[in-house]
Amino acid sequence: MDKLHILKEKMAQAQLGGGQKRIDSQHSKGKLTARERIQLLMDEGSFEEIGMLVTHRSRDFGMEKEQYPGDGVVTGYGTVNGRLVYVFSQDFTVFGGSLSETHAEKICKIMDLAMQNGAPVIGLNDSGGARIQEGVVSLGGYADIFYRNVQASGVIPQLSAVMGPCAGGAVYSPAITDFILMVEHSSYMFVTGPNVVKTVTHETVTSEELGGAQTHAQKSGVTHFSCENEVACIEHLKQLLSYMPQNCEEDAPVYPYEVGNESRPGLNDIIPENPNQPYDIKEVIEAVADSDSFLEVHKDYAENIVVGFARLAGRSIGIVANQPAAMAGVLDINSSKKGARFVRFCDAFNIPLLVLVDVPGFLPGTDQEWNGIITNGAKLLFALSEATVPKVTVITRKAYGGAYDVMNSKHIGADLNYAWPTAEIAVMGAKGAAEIIFKKEIAEAEDHDAKWKEKELEYTEKFANPYGAAARGFIDEVIVPDTTREKLIRGFRMLENKVARMPRKKHDNIPL
Ligand code: HXC
Repeated sequence: MDKLHILKEKMAQAQLGGGQKRIDSQHSKGKLTARERIQLLMDEGSFEEIGMLVTHRSRDFGMEKEQYPGDGVVTGYGTVNGRLVYVFSQDFTVFGGSLSETHAEKICKIMDLAMQNGAPVIGLNDSGGARIQEGVVSLGGYADIFYRNVQASGVIPQLSAVMGPCAGGAVYSPAITDFILMVEHSSYMFVTGPNVVKTVTHETVTSEELGGAQTHAQKSGVTHFSCENEVACIEHLKQLLSYMPQNCEEDAPVYPYEVGNESRPGLNDIIPENPNQPYDIKEVIEAVADSDSFLEVHKDYAENIVVGFARLAGRSIGIVANQPAAMAGVLDINSSKKGARFVRFCDAFNIPLLVLVDVPGFLPGTDQEWNGIITNGAKLLFALSEATVPKVTVITRKAYGGAYDVMNSKHIGADLNYAWPTAEIAVMGAKGAAEIIFKKEIAEAEDHDAKWKEKELEYTEKFANPYGAAARGFIDEVIVPDTTREKLIRGFRMLENKVARMPRKKHDNIPL
C-alpha cells in the first residue's frame, strides 16, 4: 500500500504544477491553468496523460533543487467531439512554461504519436521561450519541435492556441502550424519583448501594441483568430477542428443534412444597380452555405478578401471571396497572401474550394509595387492553380484583368465556373478601356466627354456581361442567383470523386 501511496503523492504533486501560489497568480490574471484548459478542450474523461512524472535534468544555477513533475507541460491524447487528438498544454506556473530539454522531448513524443496514428495536434501555448538556465539544450529542443512541425505540415492538422505571453522560440512553432488563435489582453507573441525593443530600436511600445491579439489579427496577420477569452478560444478550436479531416489521407467529417428547398430568392437582388456600389459578400456566403456553418478565418486582416470554412449540405468546403465592401474587393499583397495560405490548407486536407468573384483587379501604386505585389499576387494564382481538390467558381459581378485569371478561372483548373447575369468579365473597366482604345477618336471629337461616354457604353455593352465568356465555355453556365446554392450542392456532389494529380516533382516552388 505504501507504493500506491507514493504514486498518489507524485500524481497529486504533478496536478499542482508550480504550486498553489503560482496557480492563484495565473487565475488572478484571468488565465486558466494548463490542466483546466485541457479539461475544457477534451471530451469529459477522455484525456490520457503521457509523461506526468518527467523532470528536467538541469544541474546549473541551483536548478537541481527545483523539480516539478511534468516539467512545465501537460501532454497526452484524448477526444474532441469523439475524434482522437493529441495535445500539449504549457504550464506557466512552472518556470513560466519555458521550454527545457525534457519539456521539448514530451512535446516531440506526442507529435511522433500523432504522425504515426494520423490525428491532429493541438498546442496550448503559454511560455516564456527557451529555458534560460539550460542554454543550448533548450534551443536544440525547440529545433526538434520545429523540425517535427515541418514534417507534419500537410500530413496532420496542427492548431496552436496562444494563451499567455509567448516570446522567443515559443512563437516559431505556432508560426509553422496551420492555424493560430490568440486570447485578447492575456496573450502576446513577439520575437523579443518591449524591453529589448527599447534597447535596440529605441521604440517605446507596450506588450499589447507590440504583439497582442488585436495587433496580430489586424496588422501582421500572424494570428487567424482573436478570441475574447480563453473559453471562447477553446470553443473556436473545437469548431475549427470540425471542418477538418484527421489527416491528409482522409475526408472531413460529414454532418447530417436533408436537402430541401435550396432556393435563395434574396440573392436575385443583392447586386446594386450601380456597379460601383458595394455590397457585403458575406451575405452571399451566408445564403449559399448551410445555416450558421460559416467560420471566418483571418476576419480582421486584409478584409478585401474573405476566407473561411463552411458546410454545404453537411460537407466541409473552404470559401475564398472578394469583398466589394472593403477596398472594392481589390487584390493586394495582403489579401493575396491570406487567400493563398488558406487555399493551400484546404488543398492539403481534401477540403473542396468555392471561389466567389467580384474583383476590379490588382491594386496599383508604388506602395504595392515596391513591396512586391508581383511576387505576392502570384501566390494566390499559384495556390489556386496547384490545388487539385474540387474547385468551383461563381462570378457575381466584376472579374477584371489578371484578377479574372487568378480567381479560379477555368484556365487554371477550376472544375465548374458559374456566373450571375450581373457578371462583367473584361480586361479592364469600361471607362479606362475606352480612354485607351478610342484615344484618337475621343481627342478628335468636338465634345470629348460625350464621345468618351459613348465609347464607354459601347465597351460596356460588348464586355460588361458574362456572355462572351459563356460562348467560349470559360463559363459553364450563367445562372439565376437564387439557384446558386442548389447548383453548388449538385456541383460539389458531382465532383466528390475527383482525381487529379500534379506532375511528379520533389516539391513546387511557390513564389515566397
Ligand atoms: C526560465 C523563465 C523564463 C525563461 C520566465 N521564467 N521566462 N524561466 N526561462 N525563459 C520564469 C520567471 O523566472 C518566473 O519564475 C516565472 O517564469 C514567471 O515569469 P515572470 O517574469 O514573473 O512573469 P511575467 O511578468 O508574466 O512575464 C512573462 C514573460 C517574461 C514576458 C514571459 O518572464 C519574460 O520576458 N521571460 C523571458 C522571455 C525570453 O526572453 N525568453 C527567451 C527567448 S530566446 P518564478 O520562479 O518567479 O515563478 C528563445 C530562443 C529560441 O526562446 C529561439 C528559437 C528560434
